[in-house]
Amino acid sequence: MKYPPINKSLFINNRNKFLDRMKSKSVAFFNSNDLYPVSADTTLPFEQHRDIFYLSGINQEESVLLLLKNNNDTEEILFLKKPNELLTHWEGEKLSVKKAFTISGIKKVHWLEDLEKITKKIFRSVENIYINTNEHYRAKVVVETREDRFIRWVQKNYPNKNIEKSNPILQRLRAIKSPIEIKLIKKACEITEKGFRRVLNFVKPGVWEYEIEAEFSHEFLKNRSRKFAYQPIIASGKNSNILHYIENNKQCNEGEIILLDVGAEYANYGSDMTRTIPVSGRFSEKQKSVYNSVLHVKNEATKLLKPGILWKEHYNEVGKIMTSELLKLGLLRKSDVQNQTKENPAFKKYFTHGVSHNLGLDVHDYGDLDIPITKNMVFTVEPGIYIQKENFGIRLEDDVVVQQNGDPINLMESIPIEIEEIEFLMNSK
Ligand code: GLY
Ligand code: MN
Ligand code: MN
Repeated sequence: MKYPPINKSLFINNRNKFLDRMKSKSVAFFNSNDLYPVSADTTLPFEQHRDIFYLSGINQEESVLLLLKNNNDTEEILFLKKPNELLTHWEGEKLSVKKAFTISGIKKVHWLEDLEKITKKIFRSVENIYINTNEHYRAKVVVETREDRFIRWVQKNYPNKNIEKSNPILQRLRAIKSPIEIKLIKKACEITEKGFRRVLNFVKPGVWEYEIEAEFSHEFLKNRSRKFAYQPIIASGKNSNILHYIENNKQCNEGEIILLDVGAEYANYGSDMTRTIPVSGRFSEKQKSVYNSVLHVKNEATKLLKPGILWKEHYNEVGKIMTSELLKLGLLRKSDVQNQTKENPAFKKYFTHGVSHNLGLDVHDYGDLDIPITKNMVFTVEPGIYIQKENFGIRLEDDVVVQQNGDPINLMESIPIEIEEIEFLMNSK
């Protein structure tokens, strides 16, 4: 891996928290992702399943983690692909038992070839089997994962066991970040900042969106990020009104703005930033007034992320602030607001997506949205105003950590966002 070792106490604590929430006489299992095929012998680059990573720090394909609980006795077993000379020659060194322990703190490490033998013995002695299904509120998965195949095998061979789900436990655990995780997310934000500062220096009329993408990529790879945390959105002119614009293939013209929704990955953790900048280095008056409204909403929305508030309540409160900005901008009339309904508030004409999502190992990270927000949850704050008839949209997005008392900590505090600073940096090459 590109990043320096992570303190294994992170993974040991994560397993202990999961084991605490398991019923007695139970086993839980977690699989690596498959290497997804493209065609012929081509595969996509390996992406570890975030749950097995969260519980072990193991980044290798074909790994399986088993957690067992019987009253106060617990056991952790890791299964790994057995290294051999040929594999080492083609792909490099695979994890040894010792190295796997150093990363994860797991003492019992077996080779994958023993998985069936060992699990058969274990599964017979337990009452409950925790399966790890994908229950994310935005997930739309049509392919069968390695985890799904394992679940199928378990259900076929042990039809009389009680089935429990790991996902509700993980949704709650992964939503609350430890100090080590916050540092890793902060590091991803710092790499994103380097990319953004490079881009401020680079953008001028005539550049192409993909050239800007390349500048970010250069800075990310140079700083031990493996890649973008998600498909980057480099959207100039009217493309800024397309929420998930990822073509990045238009030339940027004088007078247009560019919406940059870009974040670096670091050690499997994501960052998620949006900045909107003028191609020419100077915003127009109209762009400035919309920009400052969005910035105001973002700052107020951040302050509202306090322990106790529900995600949905937060959205509704931010909606009120957005409504007042849209009235000030003359984009909404009083009558629009008077005629709005609860299901269809007037602000949705210009602000068409959510305000905040959990951020962590996944960009749209785990988090049970029906439980109140608590300290050490990491959220994005990302209001936007999209004006189709003006051919531009503005969104601003920071990543913040909820505090027990006081305002959230902004992990993107030092990434330029005020109009004066953006213009200054773009004009001081
Ligand atoms: N970049 C994806 C998002 O902002 O949610
Ligand atoms: Mn984003
Ligand atoms: Mn986001």
